Amino acid sequence: MNFEEIAALEKAALISTYDRLPLLAVKGEGCYLYDDRGKKYLDFLGGLAVNSLGYAHPELLAALRDERETLLHVSNLLYHRYQAPLAEKLAGLAGLNRVFFANTGTEAIEAAIKLARAYARKHHPAEPFERLEILAVENSFHGRTLGALSATWPEKYRRPFEPLLPGVRFVRLNDVGHLRASFTPQVAAVLLEVIQGEGGVVELREDFLKTAEELCRANDALFVADEIQCGLGRTGRWFAFQKFGLKPDVVVVAKPLAAGLPLSALIASERAAQAFSPGMHGTTFGGGPLQCRLALKVLEIMERPGFLECVREVGGYFRAQLGKLRQELPVVCEVRGEGLMLALELAAPCKSVVRKALEAGFLVNCTQERVLRFLPPLIIERRHVDELIAALQPMLAALGRSEMKGASV
Ligand SMILES: Cc1ncc(COP(=O)(O)O)c(C=O)c1O
Repeated sequence: MNFEEIAALEKAALISTYDRLPLLAVKGEGCYLYDDRGKKYLDFLGGLAVNSLGYAHPELLAALRDERETLLHVSNLLYHRYQAPLAEKLAGLAGLNRVFFANTGTEAIEAAIKLARAYARKHHPAEPFERLEILAVENSFHGRTLGALSATWPEKYRRPFEPLLPGVRFVRLNDVGHLRASFTPQVAAVLLEVIQGEGGVVELREDFLKTAEELCRANDALFVADEIQCGLGRTGRWFAFQKFGLKPDVVVVAKPLAAGLPLSALIASERAAQAFSPGMHGTTFGGGPLQCRLALKVLEIMERPGFLECVREVGGYFRAQLGKLRQELPVVCEVRGEGLMLALELAAPCKSVVRKALEAGFLVNCTQERVLRFLPPLIIERRHVDELIAALQPMLAALGRSEMKGASV
């Protein structure tokens, strides 16, 4: 079936939850995706931060081929070879002790919320009040299941499904005073993204993050870092929280972990992890052998000398080029982000730029209406950045001109 036939069939057969771009993806290689007509696209969307090693990585394909011949799935009632080494590796990287594997980001956030409640009950059973509250941050995104959704800020996501989880409160972004005032003894956990992804690549400030950590420490609440988008090498560090020397009790990762297969992990300190005992939480698919084996390979590749340095180097170059666009073009208001999690905030809606970029053979993403977000594979090179910048420049200039015209009529 060609693009038109697939699009028509989807229109009839799918529940309408996505506003797709007109691209029928059939193949990927390195940083490029190919459509059904053989046109190639340089991918600055990266499967929404999933395809960190690009497409069709030969070592990942080899691991995939090998494992499919032996074991696709075993239940969590049995052992397989890969969960334990992967857990040890992830815990070591995060400076923590134990791991629970799930499938998606939102599921692992769900597990973190449950762990926070279980932790409060285990370690503070005699208190005359329930520690049930989760403090989240305005503009955050933590997922779509009911618990994670309760901690997700945009009303448009939450409103249709209310009532949600009681006891989730939002702190104003980077407002230390509001954070202190909001932190009551009922707080079981603070849940935050060190760099907010869906929120438009917004960095939390160091003083805000450190205050959140201190308050959690002082009150024995869990400090939970959602590193689903900003973690696992995206910023040129294993985790975004490492920039400030933070020590979360719980770290949640997902997207790039198994190179495109569903796998997420809740990584916890020993004390936090003790709150779960057999039977309290589980999943059929989480931590399957194929996913875990691929994840071990992903981490092995990212751990090689120079990999993360390269993310920082190319990311720094990319940011500098975006900075030049900002200087040249009034329609560009701000450059944000770190490593290869970058964004341009524009003075006008950016949906049209996404479409034009697609026509020109570039995949970029628009979030928050006016934020162009870039989450390319971590293997991109300077020349890819140059190609994108050269293509974007006239598109943004034209957007600026039409914005000016609109403003003057
Ligand atoms: C920071 C963050 N948390 C949670 C999620 C939810 O992850 P998933 O879509 O895998 O459920 C996302 C997804 O974009 C995310 O960016």
